Amino acid sequence: MSTQPWTTPEDAVDFGSSLFTGARVRLRPLADDDLGTLTRWWNDERFMGLQGEVVRPQPDATRAEALRLWSRNDTTGSVGFSVVDAGSGELVGHVTLWGVDALARCGTLALLVGGPFVGRGYGTDAVRVLLRYAFAELGLHRVQLGVWSFNTRAVAAYERAGFVREGRRREVVFHDGHWYDELLLSVVEDEWWATDDEETPDEDGPDGHPAP
Ligand SMILES: CC(C)(COP(=O)(O)OP(=O)(O)OC[C@H]1O[C@@H](n2cnc3c(N)ncnc32)[C@H](O)[C@@H]1OP(=O)(O)O)[C@@H](O)C(=O)NCCC(=O)NCCS
Repeated sequence: MSTQPWTTPEDAVDFGSSLFTGARVRLRPLADDDLGTLTRWWNDERFMGLQGEVVRPQPDATRAEALRLWSRNDTTGSVGFSVVDAGSGELVGHVTLWGVDALARCGTLALLVGGPFVGRGYGTDAVRVLLRYAFAELGLHRVQLGVWSFNTRAVAAYERAGFVREGRRREVVFHDGHWYDELLLSVVEDEWWATDDEETPDEDGPDGHPAP
């Protein structure tokens, strides 16, 4: 990602105009109306084994409170956004950086894409947009995450967005009678700044919608 220092107010406006928009998604503040859909997706038993240490549905109010907390964006400890389709504005998920340590300049990424929207490129793009915000605006040095070893789809999305495997915690999660490892992935700022600009295209596709 190559950028130049701002010399005019228009430079700041240009930056702000594209900061939360990727090829497929836009990140926007959490709205109260999002909470019903997001908690339903989060409590979907089909996906819970991919996300949590134990499949353990929680009351909608508990899930909603966590989403609200992560998405307040008024402390240095976390940032969170609803993820919407860049063209239609339809809600497709939620992304957060939590546990941000201001001294180590490190945060942990968590992403939920709603069941109907899984596997359509939204997750990869949401991660790309959040990484740009993390490194270019929040000034983080490192973004990290953990993913269960069997979640090959998530690993593919995170690696495509720039994450690198850095380690493995052995047999940390138990599902359906078996133990599984947690893969540890991260991106550090120098790696991110060295990535190619074409990884975050802004250009529209031939039909006027964001290019896939
Ligand atoms: C993980 C998650 C965030 C990824 O977002 P997504 O929008 O589904 O991902 P994308 O469509 O952007 O990318 C998925 C990638 O996985 C690949 N993929 C799909 N199914 C796969 C599978 N079974 N095995 C390996 N790769 C797979 C796709 O080809 C794609 O890679 P590509 O872009 O290189 O072709 C989303 O699927 C999700 O929320 N799933 C449910 C909960 C979950 O798994 N959370 C992760 C907790 S760490």
